[in-house]
Amino acid sequence: MKNLQGKVAVITGAAEGIGKGIATRAAAEGMRLVLADINAAKLELAVAEFKADGVEVIGVPTDVAREEQVNALAEQVFAQFGNVHLLVNNAGVAVARPAWEATQQDWDWVMGVNFYGVTHALRAFVPTMLKHGEEGHIVNTASMAGLTSQPSLATYNASKHAVVTVSEGLHHDLALRQSRINVSVLCPGWVKTGVAHSERNRVAAAAGNDGAETPAVDAVTLKVGMAIMQAVQNGIPVAQVAAAVFDAIVAERFYILTHPEMKQAIQIRMEDILQQRAPTLLKI
Ligand SMILES: NC(=O)c1ccc[n+]([C@@H]2O[C@H](COP(=O)([O-])OP(=O)(O)OC[C@H]3O[C@@H](n4cnc5c(N)ncnc54)[C@H](O)[C@@H]3O)[C@@H](O)[C@H]2O)c1
Repeated sequence: MKNLQGKVAVITGAAEGIGKGIATRAAAEGMRLVLADINAAKLELAVAEFKADGVEVIGVPTDVAREEQVNALAEQVFAQFGNVHLLVNNAGVAVARPAWEATQQDWDWVMGVNFYGVTHALRAFVPTMLKHGEEGHIVNTASMAGLTSQPSLATYNASKHAVVTVSEGLHHDLALRQSRINVSVLCPGWVKTGVAHSERNRVAAAAGNDGAETPAVDAVTLKVGMAIMQAVQNGIPVAQVAAAVFDAIVAERFYILTHPEMKQAIQIRMEDILQQRAPTLLKI
């Protein structure tokens, strides 16, 4: 999609972090914005900021893990704006625990937001986008954790690998139908955001923490957790990720790799598979 002026962008997880960075860049491209986020207060602040800059924008409080809320978001957007040209499925959360310590609530929460958040949106938005027949683009936010497998991130890795493969299949399904909708999967390395403090977004309802005791973390989980927090703290700015996303939209590029130095990690994993050797432990 080359011409973005006046087009409609829907961005989930848009109140903060990478989502807000993408929204900022979309506004600079002259797009009209629909921002969706579970954090209604932060969403309101973001909407007010964009409005103050003269951007046409609405905010729709949405828990992307809840199918009915994503359907309601889509209904409102199509009723108010007619069509959607850029759909960015970006909302995401993380839990740092090895597989045997992740509770069922952890799995439900992380898969609910990171994976079902994407599949709910595809079902809610794509049929109407296809019916309109206009040019469009879908960006699904995965992660380098969707292309490699870090320790302590069982739920997160699984959700992001799922987003990558669903995006690859989506690309084929749309291309086979000669649709005018392109797809990108965003796989950043570390980005300076609040992702290491995702628990702030965990609601008591649905798949939130039900108050059940979670196992105490051991020394290894603690060490890996600290390394992840440090890596996020030293991560690249969200504006750099947003720039890579818009380059990919214009160039119709599928894979968005924001950290070229991490490409080697993908290669090592592929070689591990092809040579049938044990997974190499990659640097965080
Ligand atoms: N920061 C990184 O290093 C990094 C790296 C790779 C991928 N990612 C991915 O980027 C995406 C954005 O994360 P971020 O780093 O900006 O983190 P962030 O925590 O700063 O932002 C996440 C946003 O999503 C919202 N959100 C959380 N749960 C939600 C839900 N159920 N429904 C709707 N909105 C919800 C939050 O309120 C917040 O505004 C995520 O998918 C994350 O997994 C982040």
